[in-house]
Amino acid sequence: MRTTLIAGNWKMNGSLQSVIELVEAIKAGDVNNAQLAVCPPAIYLMKVGGMLEGSRIALGAQNVCDQESGAFTGEIAASMLKECGCQYAIVGHSERRALYQETDELVARRFAMALSSGITPILCIGESLDERESGDTEVVVSRQLDAVIESQGISAIAQCVIAYEPVWAIGTGKVATPEQAQAVHQYLRDKLASLDALVAEQVQILYGGSMNASNAGELLSQPDIDGGLIGGASLKAADFIAIGQSV
Ligand code: 13P
Repeated sequence: MRTTLIAGNWKMNGSLQSVIELVEAIKAGDVNNAQLAVCPPAIYLMKVGGMLEGSRIALGAQNVCDQESGAFTGEIAASMLKECGCQYAIVGHSERRALYQETDELVARRFAMALSSGITPILCIGESLDERESGDTEVVVSRQLDAVIESQGISAIAQCVIAYEPVWAIGTGKVATPEQAQAVHQYLRDKLASLDALVAEQVQILYGGSMNASNAGELLSQPDIDGGLIGGASLKAADFIAIGQSV
């Protein structure tokens, strides 16, 4: 039985003060049927990690370096994230892939580094509008997933969370319909099942892209959607909690 994960990706938003207020408000929310996680900007991880100690809310990073340590200016090692209390690290977000030219291979190395430090990678995959309109959705998400499976093996998938985030739905208010999302989630699970039925059954596959308090219930009731990776709506405690409560 898969549990539901509702993770907030705060991206590069907020200030120290607003982050503190957001964490306090989320902690006060009453969410019983889902695991909550928040992924603040890296500079606030230490602070938020301290605030979440003893709570049921998990901490996640928005990225992780593919190297252990050394001369990698601006990067953050998985071991450092672990010290801040991170249980999760997002890898391969479409903004990283598109704006910072992260390749499938680099994403796979970041994934590996998170896992080797005991951090659960949240592997983001998803097609652009052009790719969807050309009928290439399955080819694209397959390629992105295969890069990790080929380098880390199918057993690594059992230790991660997959987030299907169609690029055209991110920050656009244009959410995938429950049927569109379910179709890709089911495709992904069937693909994994052809390699290892147990891994396919166990792995959580989240949906991300304009999920909010009004559309979450229907998306989350789809059989292969095991949670959400929420951007904009995770910046308002009431909306984020409402998404958690819709499970
Ligand atoms: P929005 O919820 O703002 O569309 O962002 C989704 C996302 O990119 C989460 O990682």
